[in-house]
Amino acid sequence: MAFLFLSDAHRGRIFRDAFARTRPDLAFATDAGEIDPDSVRYLITWTLPQDLGRYRRLEVLFSIGAGVDQLQLDRVPAGVAVVRMVEDGIVRMMQEYATLAVLALHREWPGYVDQQKRGEWRARPVVQAGQRRVGLLGLGMLGQAVLERLAPFGFPLAGWSRSPRTLPGVACHHGPAGLEALLACTDILVCMLPLTPETRGFLDAGLFARLPRGAALAHLGRGGQLDQEALLAALDDGQISAAVVDVTDPEPLPAGHPLWSHPRVMITPHVASITQPETAAAAVLDNIRRHETGRPMIGLVDRDRGY
Ligand code: NAP
Ligand code: GLV
Repeated sequence: MAFLFLSDAHRGRIFRDAFARTRPDLAFATDAGEIDPDSVRYLITWTLPQDLGRYRRLEVLFSIGAGVDQLQLDRVPAGVAVVRMVEDGIVRMMQEYATLAVLALHREWPGYVDQQKRGEWRARPVVQAGQRRVGLLGLGMLGQAVLERLAPFGFPLAGWSRSPRTLPGVACHHGPAGLEALLACTDILVCMLPLTPETRGFLDAGLFARLPRGAALAHLGRGGQLDQEALLAALDDGQISAAVVDVTDPEPLPAGHPLWSHPRVMITPHVASITQPETAAAAVLDNIRRHETGRPMIGLVDRDRGY
């Protein structure tokens, strides 16, 4: 029985060591050519290998990341369980980045960076955290962890999900009607949704128009959720005051794209949160044990929902 690791060499070495320590009975390969494809029961990857079909006895496909939209789930045989990455490192990094983005937008950092370029020494009007309403799209593993980190700052917090949720200190909304309520009361909108057919192109002109004028956006989900032209138009019109954008479509954002040079946009190259191999290997090993003993795996993807 084998575990096939198809990702970068650095993380592969750390996974290999963790597997050698914990599961010496399980063959570990980082090169598909090294092993009999019929021995592969577990595979971890970011995108599907072209020759997925040769792993006829595959049982679990692990995503090396929290998202699974890049996996083309319709190409994965129905009997193969798909598991997304749920691990402490990715959660901590997203807590850091989302807090950084919300604070940057709250304290008008993009505007100050722009002023610095012009040598302009000017204080902007202050808004207290208690008056700055933060709304999160997505209340899953990452959304909930981010809300916990934001709570001590005193922002009024709200969130939106597909199904009803109850979280202490957070006004929770769900479904289409809940979205209207959330948008109407959000000054900083943070997108942490998975990319599915329902969320593709979701951040569009219509959505921006339903936010209070001058609201800001932190987009940390997937590039395919954002209508980039609509964002530029909303920024230029003043409907959106500033944006932090970590994910674009395509990636990398092409040279010369107007988002690169917009004075009120901060771009990062899809680095908000990255799977950390030490904690990820432990999480995958735990899931393998769960799978072997018939217990539910953590992060099991519902393939009908697409996340
Ligand atoms: P998750 O635990 O599966 O949570 C997803 C959340 O989104 C859930 O609350 C879900 O609602 C909600 N949702 C999904 N579709 C919806 C819809 N149509 N309408 C309303 N709510 C919807 O996912 P996660 O682990 O928190 O990760 C979220 C996403 O973050 C990933 O899929 C990935 O795209 C992105 N991500 C980005 C980075 C980065 O570096 N930028 C890093 C990691 C992850 P329910 O609660 O009702 O199911
Ligand atoms: C990164 O974007 C991930 O999905 O882990």
